[in-house]
Amino acid sequence: MKRTIALTGTPGTGKTAVAEVLKRKRYRVASVVELARMHDCILDENDEVVVDVEKLSKFKFDGIVEGHLSHLLSPNLSIVLRCNPAILKERLSGRGWSEEKVMENVEAELLDIILVEALENCEEVYEIDTTDLSVEKVAEIVERIISGQGERYKPGKIDWLSELEDRLEDVVRF
Ligand SMILES: Nc1ncnc2c1ncn2[C@@H]1O[C@H](COP(=O)(O)OP(=O)(O)OP(=O)(O)O)[C@@H](O)[C@H]1O
Ligand SMILES: [Mg+2]
Repeated sequence: MKRTIALTGTPGTGKTAVAEVLKRKRYRVASVVELARMHDCILDENDEVVVDVEKLSKFKFDGIVEGHLSHLLSPNLSIVLRCNPAILKERLSGRGWSEEKVMENVEAELLDIILVEALENCEEVYEIDTTDLSVEKVAEIVERIISGQGERYKPGKIDWLSELEDRLEDVVRF
């Protein structure tokens, strides 16, 4: 039986970096775009690559699929990488993206957009706060989750909005 594991998250949360480590550890890893090319599921490739997610989800991949659409490919398990929005903003600004594109993605992270989509599309979902972790450490946690020891990474513990509110209260108080 093929088992598809989605490694997903807002752009900049570290999916590709973590996937590279897992590849070195001999896991079978592919990106959504690689699979889309392989199965002729690219709709458009001018500005950005547009993947035919519905068509691609019919091809089961045995291994880890990384990319911000991977949780939409009917995976058996989804792992959502999270990153504090303030840090994510710095990372994405460094890519030379427009202010608008950076803020769009920072807001998506703040509002748990990918996590919610993953929960709607997959029965088994986990999330990792990568903010203070090295890429290697995140890869280790992914391994732990894949091997069935990911109980503490069940969703619900990460809440960027409350963290922001706490900080705002500190500012107002002093
Ligand atoms: N845990 C981490 N700690 C520090 N820096 C990280 C971490 N994970 C990733 N980075 C850095 O953040 C940047 C973005 O990482 P990466 O390209 O892997 O993100 P991504 O999730 O694959 O983004 P995209 O969806 O756009 O492909 C890279 O410069 C990477 O080295
Ligand atoms: Mg990537």
